[in-house]
Amino acid sequence: MDDSFPHNIAQVAEWLHHADSVAVMTGAGVSAESGIATFRDAGGLWEGHRPEDVATPQAFQRDPTMVWRFYNARRSQLLQCQPNPAHYALAQLERDCANFCLITQNVDGLHRTAGSRNLIELHGDIWIDRCWDCNHAQRVDKVSAEPIPACPKCGGMMRPGVVWFGETLPPGAINDAQAAAARCEVMLVIGTSSMVQPAASLAMFAAQAGAKVVEINPQATPLTHSADLVIAEKAGTAMPAILEAIEES
Ligand code: APR
Repeated sequence: MDDSFPHNIAQVAEWLHHADSVAVMTGAGVSAESGIATFRDAGGLWEGHRPEDVATPQAFQRDPTMVWRFYNARRSQLLQCQPNPAHYALAQLERDCANFCLITQNVDGLHRTAGSRNLIELHGDIWIDRCWDCNHAQRVDKVSAEPIPACPKCGGMMRPGVVWFGETLPPGAINDAQAAAARCEVMLVIGTSSMVQPAASLAMFAAQAGAKVVEINPQATPLTHSADLVIAEKAGTAMPAILEAIEES
C-alpha cells in the first residue's frame, strides 16, 4: 500500500461527504475478491475459448448447447460466490447518499445481493433467461437442467439475459447511465479496464459536467491519466476505508 493511500482515502471521503449526487461505475474487478475471474486479467479463457468467441449471437445460433454450457459453468461458479466488502460498502454508500446511481458492467448480480438498489446493469443479468424468439424474460436462481431451456410461452430457445459482443445495450440503460454521469459531482470508477464502449465513456461524461472522477484499480488503465485521483488498491480494501473515513468525517 503506497503511503499516499490514507491521504487519497481522506480526499475521496471529503468529496463524497459534500456531494449531492454520486455515480459509480464498476467492472469485473469489483467482483474479483469474490472469486470471480475478470475478463482481461491473466488467462481469461473458458475451455480454451475466449469469452469474445462464446458470448455472441453467432455462437448461439451455431452451437446453443456450447453457449449454455459456458453460462451454466458461470452460474455454477457464482452460486459458490458471495458479495465482498466492496459490494457491501457500495450498498452502504447508496444509503448514505441523497442521489446515488450504481452503473455496472457486471452480470453476476452481486451488487443486488449486497443491497444495491439504484442499479443500472449495462450488460444485463446472468440470472435472467430471455426467449430468443418471443423475448419473454424470467428470473432464474439455479443452473439450467436442460442443455437448452425452452421458452414457457412459445417453446422457443431461451438464451441468457446478458448483452453479447456485437449486441446493443438494453434500451434506455446507456441513456440513464449517461444522465447519471452528467448530473453527478463525484464518479467512482472501480475495477474496470475502461476498454469497452459505451461504458468506458461515462467517466468522460462526468468529467465534462465538472465531476471529480476517482479511479480505484490496482492497475493503470486508459482512464488513469485523466482521473482527478487514482487509488491503486483493490476495491475490497479501498471502498471500506472510504466508507469508514466518511463516517468519521
Ligand atoms: N479491485 C479493483 N480492481 C481490480 C481488482 C480488484 N480486486 N482485480 C482486478 N481489478 C481490475 C483489473 O486491473 C482490470 O483493470 O479490474 C479490471 C478488470 O478489467 P476487465 O477484465 O477488462 O473487466 P471489465 O472492465 O469489467 O470488462 C468490461 O468487457 O468483456 C466485456 O462485457 C464484458 O463487462 C465486460 C466488459
